[in-house]
Amino acid sequence: MKIVAFFGSKGGTGKSTLAHLLAYGAALHGQPALVVHTDDREPEIHDSRPYHYFDGRDPKRLYAVLERAKTGGEGLCVIDGGGNRPGLDRILAKACDLILIPCGIGGQDAPMALRDLERLPGAWIIVNRFPLSPGHRRRPKAEDYIAQLPRKRILCRLGESAAVDRFTEPDTRPWTAPPTRVNNAARALYRKVRDKLAQSSPSPDPHPGSG
Ligand SMILES: Nc1ncnc2c1ncn2[C@@H]1O[C@H](COP(=O)(O)OP(=O)(O)OP(=O)(O)O)[C@@H](O)[C@H]1O
Ligand SMILES: [Mg+2]
Repeated sequence: MKIVAFFGSKGGTGKSTLAHLLAYGAALHGQPALVVHTDDREPEIHDSRPYHYFDGRDPKRLYAVLERAKTGGEGLCVIDGGGNRPGLDRILAKACDLILIPCGIGGQDAPMALRDLERLPGAWIIVNRFPLSPGHRRRPKAEDYIAQLPRKRILCRLGESAAVDRFTEPDTRPWTAPPTRVNNAARALYRKVRDKLAQSSPSPDPHPGSG
């Protein structure tokens, strides 16, 4: 499996939501996927979804699951990072194939994402809750705001969607598919990540055994 992490020192930027959205997107593409909870808070119960959920709060269990994921065939293992713990993020980053930093569109979001990017060079920013529709009244201000971010380090922009809260709520009923626009956002996020992973992986030797 490839290991992808959502990190960032600011709380509430969408780390957990996007970790689930990405794993769900992988599942919609027929890929095995796992979200690893690393937050200090109690994990939610997510037991009826098309991807797995793992409590990785204990470092020993966390490293064991990452080790298994690395050698475990196809699919995505997505780490849901907790806010404001740069030390642990730096250690975990070494195990990751891709690091993503969600960034909102106001207040201290961009300055904090920039600081995270300095700490985690090679990470990519996902602009979250961006008014995607070109005619949206908040769009010009949002464009100005994200101009503070290095354009080349932005992986993609995701829109605001009320229906995403359910990803980080416990499953009190069996899982049912979210609205189409959420499924589409999950698929699009997965494809962005998959393509970025493909670019950053070393290309396989076209002539194995010939050297
Ligand atoms: N694209 C989005 N559209 C609408 N709401 C969103 C979106 N992304 C995140 N949210 C909402 O923002 C809130 C914070 O998101 P989330 O819990 O994923 O952030 P977090 O970075 O994991 O926070 P923490 O640092 O506390 O772990 C949640 O209520 C979530 O539903
Ligand atoms: Mg969270």
